[in-house]
Amino acid sequence: MNFAIIGCGFKARSHAAAINRIPEAKLAAVCDLDESAMEQYKEYGAKAYTNYNALLAEDGVDAICICTPASYHAVLVEQAAAAKKHIVLDQPMALSLDETERIVEVCRENDVKLTIVHPHRFRPVVMELRKIIEAGMLGKISHASARINLNRNRDFCAESLWRGAKLHECGGLMGQAIDYSDLLLWFLGQPKQVFSMAATGISNLEGEGVAAGLIQFESGALGTIEMSTAVYYRNFEESITIFGEKGTVKIGGPNALSFEHFDVRNLSETETERILEKVKSDPWGVPGHEQTISDLIQSVKENREPLVTGEDGKRALELVLAFYKSARNNSPIGMRRGVLV
Ligand SMILES: NC(=O)c1ccc[n+]([C@@H]2O[C@H](COP(=O)([O-])OP(=O)(O)OC[C@H]3O[C@@H](n4cnc5c(N)ncnc54)[C@H](O)[C@@H]3O)[C@@H](O)[C@H]2O)c1
Repeated sequence: MNFAIIGCGFKARSHAAAINRIPEAKLAAVCDLDESAMEQYKEYGAKAYTNYNALLAEDGVDAICICTPASYHAVLVEQAAAAKKHIVLDQPMALSLDETERIVEVCRENDVKLTIVHPHRFRPVVMELRKIIEAGMLGKISHASARINLNRNRDFCAESLWRGAKLHECGGLMGQAIDYSDLLLWFLGQPKQVFSMAATGISNLEGEGVAAGLIQFESGALGTIEMSTAVYYRNFEESITIFGEKGTVKIGGPNALSFEHFDVRNLSETETERILEKVKSDPWGVPGHEQTISDLIQSVKENREPLVTGEDGKRALELVLAFYKSARNNSPIGMRRGVLV
C-alpha cells in the first residue's frame, strides 16, 4: 500500500519510520506548507507536494497519514476521504465532537478505513494488562489512577507555534494526558460523569499546565487523572494503576513501559514470571505507529474495522472535552450515552 504523509514535523518521523519498516508499505509522497520540512523524506524516494489537492489527485497514493496540528484534521480528512484514500490520523482526532462526527461520517460515506494513532495501546506492558483485565483476573475494579507529570517547557513549545497555544486547545490535558485518558477508557469502559479542575500552575504556556480529573465509570469504578507539564526540572512520571478486588497492577517507570507493581491473586507464580519477563525483555515491542499502520493495511485487506477506530478516538477526545467543560463550569459533567450533558 502506498502512503503519503501530510504535516512533516516531529510526529511525521515516527510515521515515516514505521512505513519504512513494513514490507507491504511504501512512502510514496509527503506534503507540507513548508518545503524545507520535506527535505528529509527525499531519501525515502517520496514525492514532495506543497499542494494537498495535487497530492490527493495522485493515483499512486492509497492512504494518508495526517500529522498536522489537530485543528486542521477534520478538513484534511474530508478531502482525503472524498479522494478515496484510507486514513491514519494522529491524535487528538480533532478539537470538537462535531468535527469527530464529521470525520467518522465522511469516512463511512466514502467507504475508506480510518484509524487513530493511540500508540500507548500497543506497548507490551499495556497489552498484557488489558488481557488480564479482559479475562476478569482483577475481579471487580474499584478504582484506577493515571499520573502524567512531565516537563514540557518553552523549548518544546518553541519548536512549533501551535504547541501549548489556547487556540489549538493544546494544554496538557489535550496534549499529554489524552493517551492516558484513552487507556483508562480502554481498561474501565464508559464514564458516567466527570469532574475536574485545571490551572496554569507554574507553567509559562497558554494552555493548562496542571489539572486533576475525577471520573465515575458506569461500572461504578472511579478513576483519577493527575496531569502537569511544568515539573521541575525534567519529566517525573507517567503511570497508571488499577485496583481490583483480586489484584493490583501498576504500569510505570520511564515512558511507562514496565510493571512497577504486579499482584494478581489467580495467576500462578510461573505465569506471573512469564508475563513480567516478556515485558522486561522487550519493553517497547513493535512500535505503536508500526502496529497501527500494519493494522490499517490488514483492515483494508480483510475489509474489517481497524483495531483503533474513529469511535475510540472520539471517546478519548470526549473525555478530555468533559474535563475542560467541568473545569470551566466548576461542576460535574454527565457523559451518559456518549453525550456531554
Ligand atoms: N509532538 C508530540 O509529542 C505528539 C505526540 C502525540 C501526537 N501528536 C500529534 O501529532 C500531530 C503533529 O504534531 P507534531 O508535534 O509533529 O507537530 P509539528 O508542529 O512538529 O509538525 C506539524 C507540521 O505540519 C505542517 N502543517 C501544518 N498545517 C499544515 C497544512 N494545512 N498542510 C500541510 N502541512 C501543514 C507544519 O508546517 C509542520 O511541519 C498533532 O496532531 C499532535 O497532536 C504530537
